Amino acid sequence: MPVIKIKSSLRDYEVHIGPVHAFLEYLVNLEHKCFVVDQNVWHYYADSILRTLTRSETIDFAADEERKTLEGVQEIYEHLLKRSAKRNLTLITVGGGILQDVTGFVASTLYRGINWIFIPTTLLAQADSCIGSKTSLNYQGYKNLIGSFYPPSTVWIDPSFLGTLDAQYFYSGLGEVVKLHIMSGEERTQWLLSAYDSICAMDMAALEHAIETSLEIKIDYITEDEFDTGRRNMLNYGHCIGHALESTSNFRIPHGQAVVVGMILANYIAQRRGILSEEKRRFIERTLLVPSLKIKVYPADLDPRAIVEAMGKDKKRTGSGLALIMLADANGMVRVSDLEAQEVRSALQEMECLL
Ligand SMILES: NC(=O)c1ccc[n+]([C@@H]2O[C@H](COP(=O)([O-])OP(=O)(O)OC[C@H]3O[C@@H](n4cnc5c(N)ncnc54)[C@H](O)[C@@H]3O)[C@@H](O)[C@H]2O)c1
Ligand SMILES: [Zn+2]
Repeated sequence: MPVIKIKSSLRDYEVHIGPVHAFLEYLVNLEHKCFVVDQNVWHYYADSILRTLTRSETIDFAADEERKTLEGVQEIYEHLLKRSAKRNLTLITVGGGILQDVTGFVASTLYRGINWIFIPTTLLAQADSCIGSKTSLNYQGYKNLIGSFYPPSTVWIDPSFLGTLDAQYFYSGLGEVVKLHIMSGEERTQWLLSAYDSICAMDMAALEHAIETSLEIKIDYITEDEFDTGRRNMLNYGHCIGHALESTSNFRIPHGQAVVVGMILANYIAQRRGILSEEKRRFIERTLLVPSLKIKVYPADLDPRAIVEAMGKDKKRTGSGLALIMLADANGMVRVSDLEAQEVRSALQEMECLL
């Protein structure tokens, strides 16, 4: 069973991949603990994988971008305090990226930090967000504006949770898997292409391999730049425009699907700037990006004025221009901070023919 060790200046931690049953047995026997379980996960697994959890030590929480806020955090504080939570509490999260963000923020702030364990249940959380220490909340309609750095003490990934995931969320996670593989170069992109159909058919061995490789690629970026002041920023490929799209669509478009659209648009801009060849752009678009786009994106979602305005409010923006991470033929990834609104508008126009 693979175990990945992650170095963090906050606390080193381990990621285990495999059946979660025995680990859950250990957790339910801890003296001071509380489980926060995604409402849908509770619905599907209360009588199977999660059957040993007691109702009195479990909070079920509906994962919804509108509750990934300070109000959602407050709701969990209140539940915990009603259950007389103390500094020695272990908080165990079972759910996807939304639950991770809300409960990670709770764990990092309650008593200035309590022990936190994360059992991710979506492809996005298993292959991407479960590592990297970030917790994020939406604020006044803007994505991930508030947050903290706080790693869990253990992450346990059991891919068998993925069988009940709705297709739009499966492909949302696949968007991040595709992003990481494209960023890491030719060899891993070729592997992903060869395994793409098996992954979509939920072949467990292919899925597990894709999850493990995605995490390895991400670890490379986060151990070098844990607090996101330099190289880690490249992981924002697809996210600069993607985050704007999530906000302007009022979160109708799931995160990883917005990232796929963000990559398609960033690639158009990279081609126009002469750093990405038309051949490579078309190949990636046809073989990986378009097949991973499973939700309907309406032209109205792509209102250039609203998108450019939302990009202007991005927290990672530093200069007066807009920031963009682009894929390049040589040198891997490139970050610019002089993106013009007109370039975004032209890319949006080009994308219309794909819709
Ligand atoms: N903290 C980070 O580093 C980081 C990184 C990337 C993304 N994120 C955030 O993650 C969020 C997206 O996360 P997500 O894609 O995991 O979505 P999610 O947490 O919203 O879950 C998607 C849906 O699937 C349901 N669900 C979860 N597990 C299930 C299962 N096993 N079976 C059936 N249904 C299940 C949930 O109830 C929800 O309806 C975004 O808010 C994004 O900003 C955070
Ligand atoms: Zn992301």
